[in-house]
Amino acid sequence: MKFFVDTAVISEIAELNELGMVDGVTTNPSLILKSGRNILEVTKEICDLVDGPVSAEVVATKAEDMIAEGRKLAEIADNIAVKVPLTWDGLKACKVLSGEGRMVNVTLCFSANQALLAAKAGATFVSPFIGRLDDINIDGLQLIADIRTIYVNYGYETQILAASIRTANHMSECAKIGADVATAPAAVIKAMANHVLTDKGLAQFTADWAKTGQKIL
Ligand code: E4P
Repeated sequence: MKFFVDTAVISEIAELNELGMVDGVTTNPSLILKSGRNILEVTKEICDLVDGPVSAEVVATKAEDMIAEGRKLAEIADNIAVKVPLTWDGLKACKVLSGEGRMVNVTLCFSANQALLAAKAGATFVSPFIGRLDDINIDGLQLIADIRTIYVNYGYETQILAASIRTANHMSECAKIGADVATAPAAVIKAMANHVLTDKGLAQFTADWAKTGQKIL
């Protein structure tokens, strides 16, 4: 499973990138706001840092305006994936932008039917939002599994980009289901390293080592 980082903060991306943990980046208007940066400038910096796809989201709601914004965002770098919302207009924009050979990430997907439409419109990625479904007591992971089944049934090449990931457990569950990509905040990716028994075992080894009176260096 590929790891994308869900942030527009350069330092967070750089730290994970040094460890080879970054296969791509996703941003959205809320994350641009949080970064305090200009969208065109920060997206360019991210594209210079990361080799994989960098999603940059349109903000228009009409297809023709989304297409114009998408073309402008795609000029930033070759690794831009234009992010469009899963609306009827967004699907129209997806069809046109994909037809021009651009990567398109269809975002704000909350149902299997929406994912089916995204695949038919030629999306490179579809982004089902796990956490926001969980927030309203709908099983977000089940949606990832349903989309996996549908895409396998018909051989769709659209990649499932599991999004709105809130916990390290979401990451391993997505990998078990077979999501192509999971995008998560840097803190969630780092939290994947944590285990209470690792902490306990390390404390024991450190205490016992001190009793030996030895040194390695
Ligand atoms: C995905 O591309 C979105 O940017 C993101 O995963 C949304 O996550 P949130 O629901 O935590 O805002």
